[in-house]
Amino acid sequence: MILIVHAHPYPSRSRATHALLRAAMTLPDVTVHSLYERYPDFDIDIAVEQSALSQADLTVWLHPLYWYSMPGLMKHYIDKVLALGWAYGSARANGANGQADETATAGRALHGKHCLWAPSTGGDIEAYSAAGVHGHSFDSLSMPIEMTARFCGMFWQPPFVLHGAHSVSDDELTLKTAEFKQRLQDWSATHVSKAALS
Ligand SMILES: Cc1cc2nc3c(=O)[nH]c(=O)nc-3n(C[C@H](O)[C@H](O)[C@H](O)COP(=O)(O)O)c2cc1C
Repeated sequence: MILIVHAHPYPSRSRATHALLRAAMTLPDVTVHSLYERYPDFDIDIAVEQSALSQADLTVWLHPLYWYSMPGLMKHYIDKVLALGWAYGSARANGANGQADETATAGRALHGKHCLWAPSTGGDIEAYSAAGVHGHSFDSLSMPIEMTARFCGMFWQPPFVLHGAHSVSDDELTLKTAEFKQRLQDWSATHVSKAALS
């Protein structure tokens, strides 16, 4: 199962992210959680989101790039849902006497799952270079996002980046969305055949 965690504060104004989302939604076994629609007040249902992640083999983080990172609610989602003792580390509950409880939980819920980051960017690919306006390669900027997934034991997939979100033509956008859909289909085909062999 593929879970798309979609975060766009203004979905009705989205062109790039919306196109990618629509393409992915035509595939079977794709579940979409649009965070700004579910949680306009930022009050995330952590149990529901953790359950969705547990059921997914591949999680896609789909959002526009905001200040070299993710929109605020997506960051809040990561802070709350990828919790200590569930996604990483070890949470030790304190018993009534203040002593550490032996029923400590190990944060391995996401171990072995796959993560695909799919941001769209206003800057084109040339802007993301030492000589470009952003001064760094896109790969170097993706490190905190990559490490978030890796820290939780997830397999980091090569990101799917839609650069130049405002300057791509309609035809280029159509090609890019088909490429995105193919990436998900390829992942499913590989994953299903591996699961069938094991
Ligand atoms: C608050 C804000 C911050 C942004 N920061 C960046 C940025 O750091 N780098 C970049 O390339 N584009 C940046 N952009 C442009 C968005 O990434 C771009 O508008 C978006 O990818 C377009 O996708 P959409 O059609 O789904 O809205 C920013 C836009 C906004 C509104």
